[in-house]
Amino acid sequence: MARDKVTVIGAGNVGATTAQRIAEAGLADVVLIDIVEGLPQGKGLDLAEAAPVVAHDANVVGTNDYADTAGSDVIVVTSGLARQPGMSRDDLLTKNAGIVRSVVESAAAVSHDAIIVVVTNPLDAMCHVAMDASGFPRERVIGMAGVLDSARFRTFIARELGVSVEDTHAFVLGGHGDTMVPLSRYSTVAGVPITELLPADRVRALEERTANGGAEIVGLLKTGSAFYAPAAGAFEMVEAILLDRKRVLPCAVRLQGEFGVDGLFVGVPVGLGRSGMERVFEIELTDDERAAFQRSADAVRELVEVLAR
Ligand SMILES: NC(=O)c1ccc[n+]([C@@H]2O[C@H](COP(=O)([O-])OP(=O)(O)OC[C@H]3O[C@@H](n4cnc5c(N)ncnc54)[C@H](O)[C@@H]3O)[C@@H](O)[C@H]2O)c1
Repeated sequence: MARDKVTVIGAGNVGATTAQRIAEAGLADVVLIDIVEGLPQGKGLDLAEAAPVVAHDANVVGTNDYADTAGSDVIVVTSGLARQPGMSRDDLLTKNAGIVRSVVESAAAVSHDAIIVVVTNPLDAMCHVAMDASGFPRERVIGMAGVLDSARFRTFIARELGVSVEDTHAFVLGGHGDTMVPLSRYSTVAGVPITELLPADRVRALEERTANGGAEIVGLLKTGSAFYAPAAGAFEMVEAILLDRKRVLPCAVRLQGEFGVDGLFVGVPVGLGRSGMERVFEIELTDDERAAFQRSADAVRELVEVLAR
């Protein structure tokens, strides 16, 4: 049986690390593609040369030609710019929208049945662009952010309580930005909500650290942004899809009335399997949580409106 095929667009930090995780897990053959000549070829060859040592048989190649990506089962979109000094949020929005539109058009044209996992920021707005550029149904355009934000929350909770990350579960919903909504009532250690394990001020401190998780890493790295945890998040989604695991993960999907939101990509718990987003889990929210979720959705709407202008 042929191995599945995953195209990773963008051979930068997040893209190359995602390719490494997928190949080294033996999950799929990987095509790494970038606009820069030589970069994906070099990283692809380097990853292939690690295979004998790591002991996997997945094929990894790098290219600048979309013909090589044809027939992909999953397309991971990581191409784009990080914010540069002097660049506004809207500048980044329009520049990355142009990049995401062109790469998704090229990739979708040769992989009609693929499932697209979007990583490029601003995430929720880029999901809109990817859906529009591909013409794919909402089940096959899914954004990665909630898995990363929840992983950060889990890390902080586990460290605070001195317990294993494995027994720590967390849900961060809403848009991927300042308005994300860490749901502490649904965040648990061995099934017990953290609101019963920690005082309210500590819960709030962990929520705030989670919401600033990306900025904390940027502040430390000084050049560039996080990529190990983002790549791990993208990998988890690709694995759930290709292995039809029916994982329940927080992902950005286009809501159609769920959670009171229509026509916007926002992070919510979804079931992920071989056909992509297979269901949205509508969980009960308190009035405060619902208001925070709505604020987050409004922030996504603002970006989408800037794009439409
Ligand atoms: N969703 C999330 O949670 C999350 C987390 C981390 C990073 N990100 C985002 O992921 C993106 C990539 O981050 P990174 O750290 O890998 O950046 P990076 O600069 O290391 O890599 C980006 C790559 O995209 C390539 N690229 C640019 N234009 C292209 C085009 N038209 N076609 C093909 N390739 C093109 C660049 O050459 C570069 O290699 C950024 O937008 C970043 O903000 C999102």
